[in-house]
Amino acid sequence: MRFKNDLGWSSVTPKCTWMNRRQLLAGAGAMLAGPALAKIDAAKSAYSTDQAPNTLEEITTYNNYYEFGLDKGDPARYAGGLTTSPWSVQIGGLVDRPGNYGLEDILKDAPLEERIYRFRCVEAWSMIIPWIGFELSHLLNKVGVQSGAKYVAFETLVRPEEMPGQRSGILNWPYREGLRLDEAMHPLAILATGLYGEALPNQNGAPLRLVVPWKYGFKSIKSIVSITLTDTQPEATWNMQNAREYGFYSNVNPQVDHPRWSQASERRVGAGLFAGREDTLMFNGYGEQVASLYAGQDLAKDY
Ligand code: MTE
Repeated sequence: MRFKNDLGWSSVTPKCTWMNRRQLLAGAGAMLAGPALAKIDAAKSAYSTDQAPNTLEEITTYNNYYEFGLDKGDPARYAGGLTTSPWSVQIGGLVDRPGNYGLEDILKDAPLEERIYRFRCVEAWSMIIPWIGFELSHLLNKVGVQSGAKYVAFETLVRPEEMPGQRSGILNWPYREGLRLDEAMHPLAILATGLYGEALPNQNGAPLRLVVPWKYGFKSIKSIVSITLTDTQPEATWNMQNAREYGFYSNVNPQVDHPRWSQASERRVGAGLFAGREDTLMFNGYGEQVASLYAGQDLAKDY
């Protein structure tokens, strides 16, 4: 990825940074400090992969969350200070029941499930993550999507006093993302509130983040405070930053290389030095479920 100030990628090459014991304890503390979600009881969904998940340590110490810095270890280091309770989400645009919804209100009747998903970052690394969440369509149905709506726009919190990365201009804040309405209504698209059966750690996007497993990870926007139904394609942070490198759709596609690296294969985080790379699968392996959404679309053009 590349930045507004045109800082070269080489200076921010993905680097595996592991928590030391103190950070691990701080991370665990941050998890407990989250809203009353710890120890979430959720049935495993049929949409889950049966592949073995990455460890909690891998999932919570190797992160992209630029609001907390560029290094993969920065979110674990700095996100503990983010206040995630109280939390509300402004839901508006082409909906029947717009409003500022408290997180408790959003979660009160949400059918939580465990979804063990493959997760593929545009930087060509991947993980298997046991999310806890509910289908985004549940929330959209609750607020009532109007007939003219074609897209869903999402925004992350802006709070520079708690998000040190926002004190710099590395991205145009807030972090923004969007989905076409049919993508957003697909049962695989979830809002996650936890992982490994506990409340979502701050570095993973607490208290509420999107997970769209057939798209590159940057579409899965964290710490959402705004959801807007629109009739025009919303702005998306990386797409605005560099449209040639990051398309609006950003479906995982081994046949469409990033201009600066191949997308044909990926490195599984934590797989060990001699594991070798894995072939990247079309739609990250979710083609059977989602390919029909793109029937008739040229995915090399609409990347
Ligand atoms: N959301 C916000 N608000 N800010 C970010 O920097 N990074 C994205 C995505 N969501 C990002 C974000 C990218 S590039 C990836 S790969 C995933 O979050 C990483 O999610 P994880 O850290 O939980 O693995």
